[in-house]
Amino acid sequence: MSFESANEVPPIIETHALTRDFKKTRAVDSLDLSIRPGELFGLVGPDGAGKTTTLRLLAGLLNITSGSAKVAGYDLARQPEAIKRKIGYMAQQFNLYGELSVLENLSFFADLYDVEVSELRERTERLLAFAGLTEFKDRRAAQLSGGMQKKLALACTLIHQPEILLLDEPTTGVDPISRREFWDILTDLNLAGTTIVVSTPYMDEADRCLRVGLMYEGRMVVCADPQQIRARIEGELIELRPDDWQAACALIESLPGVLEVQTYGNLLHVLVDSADKRLPEIETALRKHGLTYRGVRRVTPRMEEAFISLIRRLEVD
Ligand SMILES: Nc1ncnc2c1ncn2[C@@H]1O[C@H](COP(=O)(O)OP(=O)(O)O)[C@@H](O)[C@H]1O
Ligand SMILES: [Mg+2]
Repeated sequence: MSFESANEVPPIIETHALTRDFKKTRAVDSLDLSIRPGELFGLVGPDGAGKTTTLRLLAGLLNITSGSAKVAGYDLARQPEAIKRKIGYMAQQFNLYGELSVLENLSFFADLYDVEVSELRERTERLLAFAGLTEFKDRRAAQLSGGMQKKLALACTLIHQPEILLLDEPTTGVDPISRREFWDILTDLNLAGTTIVVSTPYMDEADRCLRVGLMYEGRMVVCADPQQIRARIEGELIELRPDDWQAACALIESLPGVLEVQTYGNLLHVLVDSADKRLPEIETALRKHGLTYRGVRRVTPRMEEAFISLIRRLEVD
């Protein structure tokens, strides 16, 4: 057996033209994906883009309509059962047993995955500490906060020490602090060598990934590192907070050099060809129309703007 150099390590997840249909819907359309061992890969895209279906396919929970996929060396079509020991899959609606305690939930999943009794105690303690749940181990799952429930679900997903984690929107609906704690745990797991594929609606989370795949209508439309995705945004960005954002938005959209206006509540993000040139023009136009505003400044585009901009361009095509 020959040793391959680092950049020739075979992918741990590899799909070729992976496709899944539901009756009339092509949920995943000719997906070519190659994920290296130890990657932290983010899956983003609007609702219905095919993120959940992709993760369920990779978890061996759905039959493939056409194409192929290999996960941890196993062919998904032929050995879906073998894959299950290698992966930890956390569904969008992960079911904990509300009436069972934290500890009992962990034992339940340990049983499900035939974790050796001799290993259970040590492993449980480690996971509890890791998830910050040690002092809550006797509390019923239903009585944990939303953030703690997610961490318990993750701990249950980790009980059989999978090489690959497939996480479907694990932090949706959780408060920002818990989201950050959850991601700190993911980062630690990733640093310890676990390959992670995680879908998320939060762009700050996508920014923490090594690579991000943007899905749209079942297809992977962009797959690059967060920096490259931000760089794909056309133009420069100006931010301002008008008192009447609707009127200001309509006015600014009609000005020369304005490529796109995105609204975040009453905050406007204006993409322009040149911020130096257009910022004074925008201010003059607003003043002329008696539209007041605060906090106008030039800002660096984030994943959020790049993402919205890319999706808009796809919708126009
Ligand atoms: N079990 C199913 N039966 C029929 N259609 C489905 C099913 N699951 C998903 N779909 C459809 O497939 C498409 C992709 O869905 P999904 O993978 O859940 O997207 P996402 O997770 O990105 O929101 C959607 O149009 C959805 O309605
Ligand atoms: Mg989904």
